[in-house]
Amino acid sequence: MAGGRRRLSPACLFLAVALVVLVALPELAAARTRRYTFNVTMATVTRLCVTKSIPAVNGRFPGPRIVVREGDRLVVQVHNNINSNVTFHWHGVRQLRSGWSDGPSSYITQCPIRPGQSYAYDFRVVGQRGTLWWHAHFSWLRATLYGPLLILPPRGVPYPFPKPDREVPLMLGEWFNADPEAVIKQALQTGGGPNVSDAYTFNGLPGPTYNCSAASDTFKLRVKPGRTYMLRLVNAALNDELFFAVASHTLTVVQADASYVKPFTADTLVISPGQTMDVLLTAAASPSSPAFAIAVAPYTNTVGTFDNTTAIAVLEYDGAPQQSALRNLPPPALPLYNDTGAVANFSAKFRSLASAQYPALVPRTVDRRFFFAVGLGADPCQSRVNGTCQGPNGTRFAASMNNVSFTMPRTSLLQAHYQRRYSGVLTANFPAVPPVPFNYTGTPPNNTFVTHGTRVVPLNFNTTVEVVLQDTSILGAESHPLHLHGYDFFVVGQGFGNYDANNDTDKYNLVDPVQRNTISVPTAGWVAIRFVTDNPGVWIMHCHLDVHLSWGLAMAWLVNDGPLPNQKLLPPPSDIPRC
Ligand code: C2O
Repeated sequence: MAGGRRRLSPACLFLAVALVVLVALPELAAARTRRYTFNVTMATVTRLCVTKSIPAVNGRFPGPRIVVREGDRLVVQVHNNINSNVTFHWHGVRQLRSGWSDGPSSYITQCPIRPGQSYAYDFRVVGQRGTLWWHAHFSWLRATLYGPLLILPPRGVPYPFPKPDREVPLMLGEWFNADPEAVIKQALQTGGGPNVSDAYTFNGLPGPTYNCSAASDTFKLRVKPGRTYMLRLVNAALNDELFFAVASHTLTVVQADASYVKPFTADTLVISPGQTMDVLLTAAASPSSPAFAIAVAPYTNTVGTFDNTTAIAVLEYDGAPQQSALRNLPPPALPLYNDTGAVANFSAKFRSLASAQYPALVPRTVDRRFFFAVGLGADPCQSRVNGTCQGPNGTRFAASMNNVSFTMPRTSLLQAHYQRRYSGVLTANFPAVPPVPFNYTGTPPNNTFVTHGTRVVPLNFNTTVEVVLQDTSILGAESHPLHLHGYDFFVVGQGFGNYDANNDTDKYNLVDPVQRNTISVPTAGWVAIRFVTDNPGVWIMHCHLDVHLSWGLAMAWLVNDGPLPNQKLLPPPSDIPRC
């Protein structure tokens, strides 16, 4: 081999180096390192007349805003000063080769940061622009540990839509009067559904529709007539998909999950936990009223209880009287809480921009096909106390994909993979199809018990993957916002009922499908996604309703290194927490 190798002449070498430098230079010159420090402490907060101590970053709720430009390196030094383990996830950031900074719950890519410990998340933000967010990814801590992560285009690169006059991050959340950690702990003990939240919030504020909500706890967006505002929306709620609307104002969606979309208008948005959306709102030139209500309310088909409240924020025109009658603003019309048709109409509107500058690189052929049945199931009660649990028919609630309920490992899967020591940590046999096919959206099978395991799908580098995610109605059909770490995927098809491999494939959109990191498996329906494994590591895919994640609605892809040096997982940082 050595004998066949040709040597580059010095002149040739010089030219090659010069070329590389020239091509890389603008990028290098522009890319910066942005450093943040996250001090996690307990902070005292009052909402709905309840004062309590909550985990918070730098004493703030919601947490601090992170702003980077595409191409930047981001370093977040985390100090854990609360009495609980914690990890942070940079939701939607691809983490190319830097899986050590991904941070998902308990032991997928790292051991947790223990009380008193520190860890620096260190990664680059490449090929993404728009709104993402960060959140704790341990148990239900993200109820209060979250904030926006804004990715501006590189300096001098305009948006592919008219520049808004102002940009406003707007995080939709969920407030619990109780301690969310106690809520999930109790649910897991009894086997039943958890207690639900007490309010929805806008940037942490519940607004005037709730009893005992201070007037100062209302989020107000002050606008000038005729100006255009870009709302950077994030659904940070724990367990609820949400409808969102602004009375008498139409919204234009321009971006989703840090990818541009073909702009489209809507009166009501649907946004699932984990998803982000940038929308343009143009203030009327001569508004018919000095203030308008902004509303969020849940979308759900759960058989259990849910927080069936509506939260209000205020769109207030400049010059409006200081104390406009906040409590009496007419709310915008929202669909009924279970209006699955409205949700399907809305999600059908998303298309990639698919322009010359932002092409949609949709895979047209597929190397590996998967079919995952997604939904709730049950575990036997096995309670030695009184022999009955509070799940369906005295069982315990569980959730699964292909009937496997994910067991959280006790040691980092990524570490195990890096050291090629899998035994006792994971098994590489997650099923590609359900073990027993059945009528997924029809009569449920007799046995609804799930199996358990830390089972993953191993994939070679550069494999084109298609996954059809099929909702099941085993314990009531309900939509599941599935989130994939480490990748954006194309949503090539969706529909109601059972997926039909013979006919549904013909209806796929392979031209301009939307690219996202979180997509809802429709209630009693299916969705097909495609991605190419260009990012080595261990990547969890899970339902972003935290209660379902706690019940095991997750699996992981193990993507092997590619042959080239720049296709390999980087070594772990020296400060990575030990188990
Ligand atoms: Cu936003 Cu695995 O999460």
